[in-house]
Amino acid sequence: MKVVHTIEELRDQLRGQLRVAFVPTMGNLHEGHLALMKTARQHGDPVVASIFVNRLQFGPNEDFDRYPRTLPADIEKLERDRNVYVLFAPDEKEMYPEPQNFRVQPPADLGGILEGEFRPGFFTGVSTVVLKLLSCVQPRVAVFGKKDYQQLMVVRAMCRQFQLPVEIVPQETVRAEDGLALSSRNGYLTPQERAEAPMLYATLRRLQARLHEGVRDTALLEREAIATLTERGWKVDYVAVRRQRDLLPPTQEEMEREEPLVALAAAKLGTTRLIDNLEL
Ligand code: PAF
Repeated sequence: MKVVHTIEELRDQLRGQLRVAFVPTMGNLHEGHLALMKTARQHGDPVVASIFVNRLQFGPNEDFDRYPRTLPADIEKLERDRNVYVLFAPDEKEMYPEPQNFRVQPPADLGGILEGEFRPGFFTGVSTVVLKLLSCVQPRVAVFGKKDYQQLMVVRAMCRQFQLPVEIVPQETVRAEDGLALSSRNGYLTPQERAEAPMLYATLRRLQARLHEGVRDTALLEREAIATLTERGWKVDYVAVRRQRDLLPPTQEEMEREEPLVALAAAKLGTTRLIDNLEL
């Protein structure tokens, strides 16, 4: 695996390559990331990964400074895994040599809801860096995890609207045996919090079971899930039942017609904010 830190070196490595498959990450790699790399390998060649902790997508009170930066261990994992040909690991000066005044503003009805409501500016930061990374790597395919369900939809919509010549491939969420979705932020959890953390997914599974029992009132389903988590000490930002196609709330008629739905949740355990989702 070649590790490059500049856009010039990256372009040198990729000259003439028309089937690049790309996986953008913020590092601190775990099995979920490695699954993205494996999927990338099935969709193109060579596989390029990036590691860049993108300041633009963190709010002023978020964890940019303490976000785990583990480049040597990440390189070792990728070397062992043998799916990645080039790792692009730029520093901040390389990605943002001047203040990033041009930014991608996702539409409010997709980027301003759910995560966008609780993390203002998050999807602007994500879209801007993803556009820059796609412009640097120029892949034919890019792989994004479904764990960040709304991010995947924002990135897809951006690529469609800007007619970027890249196919966005989704990757199923990788979970620990107890159901907890793998995430770099799981490392912040204390042992007690780690033991409680699978309840987020278990609550979404319970919501799904209630839907299958015939409960069609989404507000009730959401209230029940929020109550379960709150009683156990979680601080819930949202539990929302939405249409898979655009993340808007389903109408009663759509509930009866079995519109494809997804339940999305974000909640804090201590100081750690976790998100998860379940296609219903
Ligand atoms: O999902 C992530 O790790 C980040 O949001 C991404 C897509 C690498 C952009 O910084």
